[in-house]
Amino acid sequence: MKRIMVTGGAGFLGSHLCERLLSEGNEVLCVDNFFTGAKRNIAHLLSNPYFELIRHDVTFPLYVEVDEIYNLACPASPVHYQFDPVQTLKTSVHGAINVLGLAKRTKAKIFQASTSEVYGDPEIHPQPESYWGRVNPIGIRSCYDEGKRCAETLFSDYHRQHGVRIKIARIFNTYGPRMHPNDGRVVSNFIVQALRGEDITIYGEGQQTRSFCYVDDLVEGFVRLMGTSDEVTGPINLGNPGEFTMLQLAERVLALTGSSSKLVFRPLPQDDPKQRQPDITQAKAVLDWQPTIVLDQGLAKTISYFDALLKEEPLV
Ligand SMILES: NC(=O)c1ccc[n+]([C@@H]2O[C@H](COP(=O)([O-])OP(=O)(O)OC[C@H]3O[C@@H](n4cnc5c(N)ncnc54)[C@H](O)[C@@H]3O)[C@@H](O)[C@H]2O)c1
Repeated sequence: MKRIMVTGGAGFLGSHLCERLLSEGNEVLCVDNFFTGAKRNIAHLLSNPYFELIRHDVTFPLYVEVDEIYNLACPASPVHYQFDPVQTLKTSVHGAINVLGLAKRTKAKIFQASTSEVYGDPEIHPQPESYWGRVNPIGIRSCYDEGKRCAETLFSDYHRQHGVRIKIARIFNTYGPRMHPNDGRVVSNFIVQALRGEDITIYGEGQQTRSFCYVDDLVEGFVRLMGTSDEVTGPINLGNPGEFTMLQLAERVLALTGSSSKLVFRPLPQDDPKQRQPDITQAKAVLDWQPTIVLDQGLAKTISYFDALLKEEPLV
């Protein structure tokens, strides 16, 4: 039995990862400050004797004994990471230093949840891991993008300098049950608007594209990457290469919810990338991984989650 620490374990991705690790017979230590995480995401795990929850902010050191660390702590949606940009940077940078220090001391293998945002507004499409990105260092998204880039640097330097065993995943847009209902991310936005019969907000003309990976596929990629030999450090792109325009996504959500919501168009926000698609050649070759859940299937599961949530806790 391995003792595995998951920072950000009460968040959207973290809670699914905790579930998966427990189901494989591991002991899980979930560390979260509940900035964007929620107790309801992990309430069903609290009675499991192999699950432990610590309320802790990763910008401060933590002294525990662990075999593996998944570092997911960081607000992921623009509304949340722009709420307190300095804290967002501290979470990525000081958080990385603290968990890497812990990995160094305990000789734990450590995984970093990086992001496709490290590519910024890319000039090449789709983006392979070798692409260095085009990121604005002083814009409103920079606290997140540059924080994650700096965390990748820290992981790489702890590996080179101290021999820490690292795994960096660059995650592309992921969706599924337990996303925040009101964090402004496009899938949750469209679904909540459709279920409530409100107008569906499209930014620009809706021609910008995104790829959407279902959470179970992503978590499978995490576990496979962590299970690779020590020479495999990443970064490795994890995401679904299937590309959809925002307009197409809105149409699928309308069809699957049976909603009569109307589409309304608003100006594009600053620094909004026009397109984003992962090149998963490496993940296929190294991890033998690719997404298996098609958009309609994943959307249907996500819609039923939000449907239940909205009935339980109507949003104001
Ligand atoms: N969901 C995606 O599409 C996506 C894409 C790329 C990268 N990621 C990365 O994956 C990770 C998880 O994202 P998510 O979508 O589950 O977001 P989330 O906001 O649901 O989860 C983040 C979790 O981290 C916790 N947290 C934030 N700051 C913390 C701190 N200082 N100390 C301790 N805990 C803290 C939050 O409370 C929350 O539980 C993040 O690092 C994010 O950058 C996610």
